[in-house]
Amino acid sequence: MKDKIQKILEDAQKRVPSCDSLNSLEELRIKYLGKKSELSDLLSKIGTAPREERPKLGALLNKTKNEIADLINKKKTTLKEQKESAESIGLDVTLPCRPLPVGAKHPLYQIWEEIEDVFISLGFEVAEGPEIETDYYNFDALNTPDWHPARNPHDTFYLKNGKLLRTQTSPMQIRVMEKFKPPIKIISTGRCYRVDTVDPSHLPVFHQVEALMVDEGINFSDLKGALDSMVKRIFSPETQSRFRPHFFPFTEPSAEMDILCINCGGAGCKLCKNSGWLEMGGAGMVDPAVLEEVGYDSEKYTGYAFGLGMERIAMLRYGISDIRRLITNDLRILKQFT
Ligand code: PHE
Repeated sequence: MKDKIQKILEDAQKRVPSCDSLNSLEELRIKYLGKKSELSDLLSKIGTAPREERPKLGALLNKTKNEIADLINKKKTTLKEQKESAESIGLDVTLPCRPLPVGAKHPLYQIWEEIEDVFISLGFEVAEGPEIETDYYNFDALNTPDWHPARNPHDTFYLKNGKLLRTQTSPMQIRVMEKFKPPIKIISTGRCYRVDTVDPSHLPVFHQVEALMVDEGINFSDLKGALDSMVKRIFSPETQSRFRPHFFPFTEPSAEMDILCINCGGAGCKLCKNSGWLEMGGAGMVDPAVLEEVGYDSEKYTGYAFGLGMERIAMLRYGISDIRRLITNDLRILKQFT
């Protein structure tokens, strides 16, 4: 019985000091000193011990009880003091803390992910490529003549080492076709650079999404289908699209895609400059010269490609009228789009 009593004492000496609230201290008091405690149980069994030991055991039990009661009382005083001093400076430690502001994805990145998801669901793979490019990938291999104005340093950033900052994601068409044989079905997204003065619709750094599909028997209606389903997914199922003839050195025929103005439905407004349509980007059938450049048989294979500006899509989706809003990191503005 002595051993048991000693154990109870040691247990209490360990647990009481590490107790951190008045409630759990009260639980410990009931456990060690309450009517159903081990000590009370032992006290009631004292009669079963040999007669000569009973007084000693009784004394030991009482002493232990008092020691534990002391421990608990002291701890109670400390906890009460702590609580009162916290309360005296107006601190209620039980209150929940102020909610911390949580960040969210930038509107451009939301669109970026959405566009990738749309094309992944249509069976496209995502290819990534360098932002620092050579003349060859950005222009030559894309059938761009030497005299083309886009090559001018007024339009393109050239680096000291003779390389340039890609002006479009189209060089990825070449990089992918160089590496893989048809069928090709990829998109490539990322930053592009052009020497442009910053204004409400231009930034020298912007983002494009490029798509390329090459196989036997690919035709213009495949291109229209892919673009049309993309804009229907990104804007709304009612979105209407149209294709206007255009020119790009690396596609033939080439087109520009417009969607019916999502603001006025075609009636004419400020957003569509009264034309009823919004320009989305360039597209076309891959020029046979480009296919031959990467060693594809242009008699056997055909393909389509398109390139869209992601800022433009994000601005239309979120009703942002000035492209600079996307980069000024003004939280009051960005918060409206999350
Ligand atoms: N690269 C063109 C641009 O930046 C867009 C485009 C891509 C056009 C693919 C046709 C095919 O304007």
